[in-house]
Amino acid sequence: MKKVYIETYGCQMNQADSEIVGAIIKENGYDISSLEEADLIFVNTCSIRENAEQRVKKRLSEFESLKKKKPHLKIGVLGCMAERLKEELFKENRSVDLIVGPDSYRKIPQMLEEVSLGKRSANVLLSKEETYSEIIPIRLDTNGVSAFISIMRGCENFCSYCVVPFTRGKERSRDYRTILSEAKDLFEQGYKEITLLGQNVNSYMWIEEDKVVNFAQLIALVADISPLLRIRFSTSHPKDISLELIKTIAQRDNICKMIHLPVQSGSNVVLERMNRKYTREEYLEKISLIKKYIPSCSISTDIIAGFSSETEEDHKQTLSIMKEVGYDYAFMFNYSERENTIAAKKYKDNVSPEEKNRRLNEIILLQQSLSLESNKKDVGKVFEVLIEGFSKRSKEKLFGRTSQNKVVIFDKKDLKVGSYVNVRINDCSSATLFGEEV
Ligand code: SAH
Ligand code: SF4
Ligand code: F3S
Repeated sequence: MKKVYIETYGCQMNQADSEIVGAIIKENGYDISSLEEADLIFVNTCSIRENAEQRVKKRLSEFESLKKKKPHLKIGVLGCMAERLKEELFKENRSVDLIVGPDSYRKIPQMLEEVSLGKRSANVLLSKEETYSEIIPIRLDTNGVSAFISIMRGCENFCSYCVVPFTRGKERSRDYRTILSEAKDLFEQGYKEITLLGQNVNSYMWIEEDKVVNFAQLIALVADISPLLRIRFSTSHPKDISLELIKTIAQRDNICKMIHLPVQSGSNVVLERMNRKYTREEYLEKISLIKKYIPSCSISTDIIAGFSSETEEDHKQTLSIMKEVGYDYAFMFNYSERENTIAAKKYKDNVSPEEKNRRLNEIILLQQSLSLESNKKDVGKVFEVLIEGFSKRSKEKLFGRTSQNKVVIFDKKDLKVGSYVNVRINDCSSATLFGEEV
């Protein structure tokens, strides 16, 4: 049997896609293997920032050297970089045999046939319909406890800085019945936590003649599978998060009390240029609704430092919205201009790298103190924790997460991975809670 090694970069949606690719290729006689044993290497790539692409290019040149020692090795580039750079990748790297865009994974077996005849093969057509709806993914790098389910693909928001609408194409939702059956299947296999994925899950919408299922309804249906199954989701766009969804989360114990709501900037001028379609005030209104209906909810965000023409005053507005919301967690990035985006065409990347770094560092330092503050509030409280595995530092300790998605470390005793345990928190750092079973 031939062997394929799949390496994944980028977002959770890419991880979910690698699991679909795994299923497609397994059907066609390949076993998933380690890098050492592989006859075929797939690199599922990300284009979101320049450094994400650089990392993949470096890796591809390592694979090029490997191919010199193993001439029968075939190499495929999948995902967003394949879509963005297309055949250019063949020119850049002589060892690449396949280029497969995110909507072309069903074509892989056919493409491999061409490759076996010594040809190079590329398919980067984007689709309006493809959702890989009925394909049952094989789980890669799994802890057997938590899994992802893609519920939609693509994005049409066209935030001015963002490459995703170009690499992933039109927004489309997957048939809710296949989502439900995949979730049930996972639960029956012993999985206890499912994350529903999309670039903007709030615009999930399945429409049939006499039936409409929106995201709030979908998440309720998934939550109904079992009270022992936890549900998370990512990502919500602030402009679309609905009161119906907030109330649904509040009403059900097994929908996790966490919302990832990327703010990007605290300045209205910058938000406008970013084409985010909400103001600072509208964003804060959504936050107060969340806090009102779900007092225990943790809130995380994404922030971009040094977008085009961002002034010191704009930056201060970002710091102030961070404090005002009191984020529990944040992903923080320097602005990276992406070719062909609206920002690349209209707005100069005119904040110097030094200035971006300085602002980003201030944002990171502030977030560390906010995370610590948030964790300190948990000390003394008891949380239900889903056990995910062993602590990296000690085999005597386990780690799991609270509903709020905070990592908790505690003594193993006779506890088992995949079960729920009540833990009293007695200490914390800015990144982790420490506690004991009660
Ligand atoms: N769909 C999600 C985000 C997907 S990309 C949403 O809209 O929230 C994840 C994050 O990467 C974005 O939220 C943004 O903070 C960051 N990002 C996207 N494009 C970027 C760019 N060109 N430079 C820096 N960060 C970027
Ligand atoms: Fe990119 Fe905006 Fe779409 Fe998120 S919503 S993927 S940031 S265009
Ligand atoms: Fe990256 Fe594509 Fe995801 S650009 S963040 S892998 S959708």
